[in-house]
Amino acid sequence: METTLDPSDWESLRRLGHRMVDDMLEYLRSVRDRPVWGPVPESVRRQLGMPLPDDPTTPEHVYADFREQVLPYALGNTHPRFWGLVCGTGTPFGMLAELLAGGLNANVFAGEHSAPYVEAQVIGWLERMLGIDETASGVLVSGGSVANLVGLTVARNVRSGIDLDGHGLANASQRPVLYGSTETHNSVAKAVQTLGLGRRALRLVPTNARYEIDVSALERAINDDRAAGYRPFCIVANAGTVNTGATDDMLALADIAAANDLWMHVDGAFGALVALSPKLRSRVAGLERADSVAFDLHKWLHMPYEVACVLVRDREAHRAAFSPSGAYLGRMPRGLMSGPYVPNEYGPELSRGFRALKVWMSLKEHGRRRFSDLIEQNVAQAAYLADRIAATPGLELAAPVPLNIVCFRATAPGVDVNELNREILMRLQERGIAVPTGTVLNGCFVIRVAITNHRSRREDFDALVDAVAALRAELVIPDPRRGSA
Ligand SMILES: Cc1ncc(COP(=O)(O)O)c(C=O)c1O
Repeated sequence: METTLDPSDWESLRRLGHRMVDDMLEYLRSVRDRPVWGPVPESVRRQLGMPLPDDPTTPEHVYADFREQVLPYALGNTHPRFWGLVCGTGTPFGMLAELLAGGLNANVFAGEHSAPYVEAQVIGWLERMLGIDETASGVLVSGGSVANLVGLTVARNVRSGIDLDGHGLANASQRPVLYGSTETHNSVAKAVQTLGLGRRALRLVPTNARYEIDVSALERAINDDRAAGYRPFCIVANAGTVNTGATDDMLALADIAAANDLWMHVDGAFGALVALSPKLRSRVAGLERADSVAFDLHKWLHMPYEVACVLVRDREAHRAAFSPSGAYLGRMPRGLMSGPYVPNEYGPELSRGFRALKVWMSLKEHGRRRFSDLIEQNVAQAAYLADRIAATPGLELAAPVPLNIVCFRATAPGVDVNELNREILMRLQERGIAVPTGTVLNGCFVIRVAITNHRSRREDFDALVDAVAALRAELVIPDPRRGSA
């Protein structure tokens, strides 16, 4: 007896599918009415630890499990008051595009079919949006971390002097080193480690008071390393640091890179997108001079997870880094194995999903200008929140607010301020009021609001400030009726 995974009753699956779409659209429409976040209850944790049954469960029952065990305990980043880490909100149409991509189930390794053309078109659009030379190559990857890894792989191959066709790093005559500020995202350190360069190869250069790389300290570090026999090969510039949204002086870094024959890689996970806005573009001046740029589309472009992009100015070097191919992948002049765009030669993945479809559909749906308006809106909201904090007794800003990230803390005499702010943050989350997360700046724990959210409104920031002020009062002067705080 042969079997298949197709439904035995297409009609009932169709009805269920329609219900699922209706339910999820309603879920997104009414997201503001729910708490932002809540923990997973013990009973559900138990359910989620159960072994897989040998026998089938009907799709209706599986969907009921989803509604009971998964949906109510989501991360919360679709909510207008979610500002944790750096998370995008996604969109309803993006969700539908994911459904279509799932239906097509295209493997976008390469080949002559529509999906690689869609991806190539999306890459061209992104290059134009960022003001990057359209001769640059690009590829969509799962996120900023992989985009950084791809950019730094090419940098290492091109500029570190290692013998790629022979023994690689084992035969390097000089130890390659690269530079980024102390505010550089941990994905860069991960990439350096993955690339076998050793964590100490990443020189962390101090920042100025605005959390931007100290350019003179960088130049000194390069000279010192060279004098000590190391081989400087790359500068990682930040366009929007994860802690405070600081952007390094990329024009100065591009000059230093050019003068020292170094690769300039920009980690612009969210900040690179500022280039979309005519009003804000000057803040990322120098981006166009990068050798490679990594940026996320699931953050400040609101695409459903996962999708990011890496662009590399030297197309051939990009391809050379990932092109060792297998005989079974051989290109043909015609047929399925033809096609001009071969994305698997520009990154570590061979099998790749159709990430480009949601980007293609969402960019068309809204057009470039609306994404630019939303970036400006979030930056204006950050400035508004900063003003509200500065004007609220007992609260203070903890860092400059150059873009869309606001770091602040509650203060009070005679208390452990780090503990106070940790407690405020956890209560904000546990009560479902809002989800900022925290970070540490100059040894102090601070509450951090990262606004990459197209649903947030000014009143959401008012609600946050009011709630933090109330929690501070609750914790600093414990209410005797509730016991000790
Ligand atoms: C500046 C920066 N770089 C890199 C990353 C990593 O991106 P992803 O989480 O998409 O891998 C992030 C994530 O927040 C980031 O903020």
